[in-house]
Amino acid sequence: MSVPATSIRRMRIGVIGCGKISGIYFQNLPQLPQTEVVRCADLDVGRAKEAAAQHGIPSAGSVDDLLVDDSVDLVVNLTIPAAHVAVGLAAVRAGKHVYAEKPLALTTDDGRELLVEAAQHNVRVGSAPDTFLGAGLQTARALLDEGAIGTPRAGAVHMLSPGHEHWHPEPDFYYQRGGGPLFDMGPYYLTALVNLLGPVAAASAVATSGSPTRRTPQGREIPVEVPTHVSAVLEFEGGATVTAVFSFDVPASTVPHGIELYGSDGTLVVHDPNNFGGPVLSRGKGDTEWREEPLRTPWSENSRGLGVAEMVAAIEAGRDHRASATLALHVLDTMETIHAAAERGERLPVRTTCVRPEPFDTF
Ligand SMILES: NC(=O)c1ccc[n+]([C@@H]2O[C@H](COP(=O)([O-])OP(=O)(O)OC[C@H]3O[C@@H](n4cnc5c(N)ncnc54)[C@H](O)[C@@H]3O)[C@@H](O)[C@H]2O)c1
Repeated sequence: MSVPATSIRRMRIGVIGCGKISGIYFQNLPQLPQTEVVRCADLDVGRAKEAAAQHGIPSAGSVDDLLVDDSVDLVVNLTIPAAHVAVGLAAVRAGKHVYAEKPLALTTDDGRELLVEAAQHNVRVGSAPDTFLGAGLQTARALLDEGAIGTPRAGAVHMLSPGHEHWHPEPDFYYQRGGGPLFDMGPYYLTALVNLLGPVAAASAVATSGSPTRRTPQGREIPVEVPTHVSAVLEFEGGATVTAVFSFDVPASTVPHGIELYGSDGTLVVHDPNNFGGPVLSRGKGDTEWREEPLRTPWSENSRGLGVAEMVAAIEAGRDHRASATLALHVLDTMETIHAAAERGERLPVRTTCVRPEPFDTF
């Protein structure tokens, strides 16, 4: 990650949850000019101490100790989805801003409770993913806003995979509520789509589970509590219709992870929104070849934590932050609506909405 120089006060970060994804946050947050990591914690205190030793963090211990530490201004919550709201509520009640990994909560009602409580304590809540702030998705956003493909009318997104038990050391949560391909990977695709097209108005879907249990490479069985293949049709407030497939039941596929948008005058192909960088391809109606668009902003490497830094910059400047809880709540509501539409066999309206975040270049 290459970081432009700025001169602002660093906010002091406490990281809760020192598992698999924490490494990239421990690597990036100290490099960003807005953030320094002063403390980390985990249910498994030994794991927190190991992370602190590995990454040079001054202090490590229990969650309770972190929450009463006045030197922590903002909690980065990297716990498993089922713990996001409980940990988030404890942090906002302790007067700390919170930035949570995705999904924001297991249900829209729980997510809303976190937002209400944060407002009562006068602290902010932000949420992953922040990949939409990256060079690829911001270049795509600029192209759309400039009318490069005319009026967006439709789109297709695919996240077809064999499931996470093949690489994650503790994959159980991916098959519990808050997991599955929709709640795990959907936030990247839906946040990217909302940033590109605006909020989702309604959803229809079919969802299935390939198998009642999964097996890790070591032979351990994991119960499956959620759909593992979800096909949805999303209707956006702006008029576009997007077909979206999220699966942990696909052994192999030639369809790349990514987003295609079809406009009145052309097509835009956007890279896997789990990443910050390109490629972004465009092709106008009369063109005979694809054009690879030059990326316009600096954040093309794995810059997880950029959303935290942008949130700190926004707090300091007294403006709204981009990886916001209202955006995450709308994405969560859209996912919940997709599951409900599949269960009921109905087309359902998405009850929440949000404002498209402002475009982002750099600080
Ligand atoms: N692993 C990835 O590649 C990846 C990528 C992007 C986002 N995420 C998201 O990051 C979050 C964490 O994923 P992970 O893969 O690091 O999981 P993990 O299981 O490897 O780590 C989670 C950690 O949180 C701790 N924890 C659980 N409940 C807690 C609680 N109540 N209080 C304190 N600590 C608690 C666990 O002990 C564990 O150390 C999830 O929301 C996931 O969706 C993961």
